[in-house]
Amino acid sequence: MSLTPKQLDACVLVWLDEAREQILNAMQIPLQVSEKTNARDLVTNVDRSIEQFYVQKIQHLMPNAHIISEEGYGDHVESMDGDVWFIDPIDGTLNFVEQRAEFATMLALYHDGEPVCAWIMDVIQNEVIHGGPTLGVFENEQRLSKFENRGLAAGLIVVSGARLLSNQMCLPEIAQTALGFRVYGSAGISYMHVLQGRAVGYISKMKPWDYAPGVALAKTLGLSTSNIDGNALNMLISNSVVVSTPSAHEEIMRIEKQTNGV
Ligand code: IPD
Ligand code: CA
Ligand code: CA
Repeated sequence: MSLTPKQLDACVLVWLDEAREQILNAMQIPLQVSEKTNARDLVTNVDRSIEQFYVQKIQHLMPNAHIISEEGYGDHVESMDGDVWFIDPIDGTLNFVEQRAEFATMLALYHDGEPVCAWIMDVIQNEVIHGGPTLGVFENEQRLSKFENRGLAAGLIVVSGARLLSNQMCLPEIAQTALGFRVYGSAGISYMHVLQGRAVGYISKMKPWDYAPGVALAKTLGLSTSNIDGNALNMLISNSVVVSTPSAHEEIMRIEKQTNGV
């Protein structure tokens, strides 16, 4: 890779500004919405065009990199060797269609399985959380300070509403132990709350493009990341993903073991 992480960060921040402009313009005219697997799993013309926009930019900048992306314009990637990009062009498409707010656009670059840089933009608020291990983590230009290592009883836990309702990943027990729980409908927005210290963790089961940016930024800040069994994430597949303060992580692992009788 010829660009330094700092140069890369600056470059992608320009892409994000352009993508935001395109998304806001596209919202001025009716969206073309279609169902993927069911009525809650939507894709729009904007998801597709923004993914194509990022893919073109990445291919021009780093022709040898591989791309894991949601809408099918990336590559079939079977290894984390070398440079691997993750793209979620619109994260929280249901929010995008129904609320026209509370959705994100996000990317991450990993090299040989380790995070290099990641970006999560709240499009409507025009806020980007970005950075990486050699840069630190920033909210727009402001460096994010180290989180407070609070446990579940002292903070909010962000969860997937659907998985809480269907009693997955011990989410009812975890939500009851926490000070309160929140459901945002966008993985990117959920990770922003954790990175900003407004929640002690976020737990869901998701695809690589949903969690790769949040996990990269969380690791950089020193938050704990694992699957619900406490193991390292395989970045190529869907995972039950826990990102939290170390204290909350210990408690979540304990609740999981107690509930499943391990
Ligand atoms: C979804 C959202 C949602 C999460 C799902 C994701 P999409 O992403 O992040 O909050 O619970 O698992 O698939 O499909 O809107 O990009
Ligand atoms: Ca998406
Ligand atoms: Ca997503």
